[in-house]
Parts: sequence; C-alpha cells; structure tokens
Amino acid sequence: MLRSALTLAAAALLLTACGSTKTVTVTVATTPPQTGNVSDLVAEGAHDFNQFACAQCHGTNGRGGVSPDVPALKVVGRAMTATQLRSIINHGLGASADPKRPYMPVWGQVISTRQVNALIAYLHAGLPAVSGATAAPVQTDQGRVVEGGQLYVRYGCINCHGPNGLGGVPNPSSPDKTIPALSGADFFAEFNTDQKIIDVIRSGSVLGKAPIVSMPHWGGIIDDAQLHALVAYIKTLRAQ
Ligand code: HEC
Ligand code: HEC
Repeated sequence: MLRSALTLAAAALLLTACGSTKTVTVTVATTPPQTGNVSDLVAEGAHDFNQFACAQCHGTNGRGGVSPDVPALKVVGRAMTATQLRSIINHGLGASADPKRPYMPVWGQVISTRQVNALIAYLHAGLPAVSGATAAPVQTDQGRVVEGGQLYVRYGCINCHGPNGLGGVPNPSSPDKTIPALSGADFFAEFNTDQKIIDVIRSGSVLGKAPIVSMPHWGGIIDDAQLHALVAYIKTLRAQ
C-alpha cells in the first residue's frame, strides 16, 4: 500500500519533470505504515508503549506535542543508555519536584523486566511506527459511559486499577500493599461526588517515592470532557 503510493508519487514527479499536463491522482496511504523490518522485540516495545499509555503523555511514537510538561522522546530515547531508561521507567521522574504538573509514573511494580527491555529496544530504535501499535479510536457518540470505558483502557488506568476497576494489583511498599480498586463500598463511600473523583484523576496523589506506585497527575493531558466520561464509567462499576 505504502509502496504503491510512493511509486505513484514518483510517477507524478516524473510527469511534471517532462512538462506533461496530464493530471495524476496520487493515493496517500491511509492505513498505518507496516512494521517493515523492525525486530520482534522492537514491535513488542511499540505495543507496550501503547498499552502503558506512554503515547498518551509523550505523543504517538514519542513525538511530543501533548503537553509542554512532557518531553518528546525521539532524540533522547536514542541518546540515553539502557540503564538510564530502565531507571526512569521503573522509578518515574519529576513527581516530587512539582506535584502540580504531569510527572512520569512509577511503573516498576506493574511492568515486567521483559516489557521494560522491549520498551528500551523500541526507544533505542527511534520509536518507529509499528503496525497495530496505536490506541484504538474512542467512541464519543454513544454516551459518556462508553467513552469513559474506552478511555480507561487508552490512558492505561486498567494496568493499575485492574479490569472493571476491581483492583488487586500489588503495591508492596504502599500502606495498603495494593493499588486501590475503583469499585466497592469503601471506594464509593470515600469518593461520593463527581468532583472528588475528578480531582484525584486531575491532580494525582503521591504516596511516596519509588518503588511505591503513586496515582499519576493527568492534568493537562486528560481534558474536562474526558474526565467527566471517566467518572461516568467509574460510577457504573460494582458498588458493593
Ligand atoms: C502521565 C504522563 C506520563 C506517562 C503515562 C509517561 N510519561 Fe514519561 N515522562 C512524563 C513527564 C512529565 C516526564 C518529564 C519528567 C521530568 O523531567 O520532570 C517524562 C519523562 C520521561 C523520560 C525522560 C525524558 C527526558 O527528556 O529526560 C522517558 C525516557 C520517559 N518519560 C519514558 C516513558 C515511557 C517509556 C512511558 C511508558 C511506560 C512513559 N514515559 C509514560 C510523563 C509521562
Ligand atoms: C501507575 C499506576 C496508576 C495509573 C496508571 C492510574 N492510577 Fe489511579 N491510583 C494509583 C494509586 C497508587 C492510587 C492510590 C493513591 C493514594 O491512595 O494516595 C490511585 C488512586 C486513584 C483514585 C482514588 C482511589 C483511592 O481509593 O484513593 C482514582 C479515582 C483513580 N486512581 C483513578 C484513575 C484513573 C481514572 C486512571 C486513568 C486515567 C488512573 N487512576 C491511572 C495508581 C494508578
């Protein structure tokens, strides 16, 4: 697909060069570029970059542009050593410096060594586009609950709070030893207004330094409409 589009473009250029007036319609490839010759580990890393919502803060393929507080990764990803990257992914960055801005979450307790290795390979390869490794489109015309359920996956909430907000993901160094559920009587008793839920998603909640997993600060990343959609979805989860 991509190749044939390029061939057409080349043909169009040739015709222009010959002074021909014939109009050639160039088909621009709309399907995502194919994986090409990236290794399986790099492809894995691209899918992890999507699953752990790196792309939601750092932009598609780490191109940046989402928030002035979140750096692009294309250049820095190649320049940093594996040790530096491993430490940032496992321990996060920037949280204690200014909790009012997005910070790099601590993923160490959630992500596996293999997945970190794949992410490093992907960053070192310059974050190439990999077929299928992009977030699925979010449905916005079927109500807030549907939208919120899809955003829960897109922003990687599901990795920390579990499917259906059931919780159970270990956080051994935290007081509760686990990342809280977003369901059940205790949760809904404490978070009994939309505003309280929105505030914690927007501002995060720092429990402590790595290896403790904290709630990321999503202000500047998730807009108000999406915050309300997430709340609408969370309120449909198990109340008991
Ligand atoms: C909630 C938003 C958010 C998410 C999700 C996120 N990051 Fe970050 N990341 C940041 C911010 C903010 C910084 C800059 C922190 C600082 O320097 O104070 C950062 C910094 C980094 C850096 C260092 C860049 C530099 O220029 O120093 C790397 C590498 C990185 N992130 C990789 C990742 C990877 C890989 C993932 C997914 C596993 C990820 N990030 C997910 C917000 C995020
Ligand atoms: C990197 C793991 C991580 C990710 C990703 C994450 N959270 Fe959290 N979240 C936490 C932790 C840890 C806490 C507990 C913070 C505390 O108790 O101070 C928390 C707390 C919360 C709370 C308050 C619940 C309570 O009992 O304290 C809500 C609501 C919440 N998160 C929603 C979300 C939503 C929505 C998303 C996706 C946009 C999300 N979280 C993504 C780790 C995460």
